[in-house]
Amino acid sequence: MKSKFILLSIVVCFFLMNKSYADQKQLVGADADYGEHLFGECVTCHNSTGLGQGIPKITGMKTSQFITKILAYKTKEKENAVMQMVAERLGEEEINSLALYLSKLK
Ligand code: HEC
Repeated sequence: MKSKFILLSIVVCFFLMNKSYADQKQLVGADADYGEHLFGECVTCHNSTGLGQGIPKITGMKTSQFITKILAYKTKEKENAVMQMVAERLGEEEINSLALYLSKLK
């Protein structure tokens, strides 16, 4: 009985710790390692500095900013054939994982 209570306390602690990352709290299914894996597909065009050929730098972006931009391509609100195609294939968990990973990079 007692050990159950301790376990519950630990879980609640982790939950509260996570809550403090306000910018990340709505990232359903986000996993930075998965984001790193997915990013392998993006680096051909987006390297860490941006290639300076109309390809913007996407590392170090705030999660909310990244998600807004990707969704704008996904819904075709923002024009760009390449990025619309890229965004079309990304689901919520993938977008959130990328957002989390990229926000941790410089
Ligand atoms: C074939 C090249 C290419 C690939 C691969 C690619 N992108 Fe892009 N991306 C671009 C270009 C070009 C733009 C600028 C488009 C524009 O002007 O709207 C862009 C723009 C973006 C933007 C908007 C940046 C801003 O500040 O407006 C985001 C976010 C982004 N890409 C994320 C990704 C992610 C995540 C991936 C991998 C899953 C990816 N891109 C793969 C070429 C690429």
